Amino acid sequence: TRTAATAVAHANIALIKYWGKADEGLIIPHTSSLSLTLDDLHTTTSVVFDEALDTDEAALDGRRLAGRALARVRVMLDLVRARAGLDGVSARVRSRNTVPTAAGLASSASGLAALAGAAAAAAGLDLDDRDLSRLARRGSGSAARSVFGGLALWHAGHDDASSYAEPVSSPLRLAIVVIVIDAGPKPVSSREAMRRTVATSPDYPAWVRRSAGDLAEALDAVRTGDLPRLGDVAEANAFGMHGTMLSATPPVRYLTPASLAALRTVWRARRDGLPVWATMDAGPNVKAITSAADAEAVARRLRADLAGVVPETNVIVAHAGPGIQ
Ligand code: ADP
Ligand code: DP6
Repeated sequence: TRTAATAVAHANIALIKYWGKADEGLIIPHTSSLSLTLDDLHTTTSVVFDEALDTDEAALDGRRLAGRALARVRVMLDLVRARAGLDGVSARVRSRNTVPTAAGLASSASGLAALAGAAAAAAGLDLDDRDLSRLARRGSGSAARSVFGGLALWHAGHDDASSYAEPVSSPLRLAIVVIVIDAGPKPVSSREAMRRTVATSPDYPAWVRRSAGDLAEALDAVRTGDLPRLGDVAEANAFGMHGTMLSATPPVRYLTPASLAALRTVWRARRDGLPVWATMDAGPNVKAITSAADAEAVARRLRADLAGVVPETNVIVAHAGPGIQ
């Protein structure tokens, strides 16, 4: 027999970050997180379970996956096979990212969510959104949030059943202006970087303790439509996270001189009255949090200011995007 399905999932950027696992195998995080799913950046993945195949094979953007990247795909396929009673049936996976892969632009979120959705559908599993979020989490933590459109809250939970994301409604219409400084793969994966941070940073426990308060504040700002309050707490939470990376041994340094120049343009725009705050993930790129209504003006301003400073920079406007399809 041969069964196939295709899924599309969009990347998400965290406003309150996930950084560090309490359980590495199940991907249970130390902190709950809040994100915005984006319209522009997405992954399309098709999965075929075929009894005629000898082994699992996967390709991303036309290139055959091997080693760690293939192993990561197979972890997801194994979970789905075990649930669907398809043990021993191999799969062919084909995927395309419009997100640059492994650049800190959340390819693992859209990539592993799309894989979870396509594999579950191809295997005939009928999962509700919560169960699909739990399944996507096993591929990449941030993928749990990409099941949902718009704002998503990932409850850290304490076991497989209690760790899942759900949508959050808000009067805010948010946008993210992505300043792409470097779209190449990062030197250290998020997975390795967070492992090192949890194991060695003396500041990590303090960031975890503070995160609960940050999240409560962000959720309140989201509920009441208070963008400045949301922006302030998101910015502080992200730089707190980068502080834990810098104090790890050896330090995880994603910030580059170009990142700092880009941050300065964001802060200058804010000083001049634009509603814009910065966040960063595991990579040198800077993401500016703003309102949908101000996004084009913010992008124009950042492009103009960056032109002389970081000439290669590409500035992308992303609005709230849909959940998995
Ligand atoms: P990013 O910042 O892009 O999320 P990560 O280091 O967290 O970077 O994850 C990148 C890894 O995610 C890739 O090396 C690959 O293993 C996996 N990945 C990304 N996109 C896909 C995809 N479409 N299908 C399968 N795996 C993917
Ligand atoms: C900095 O979800 O990519 O983007 O669970 O190991 O696959 P794994 O890590 P991943 O980490 C994302 C970290 C982050 C913050 C965030 O998205 O919340």
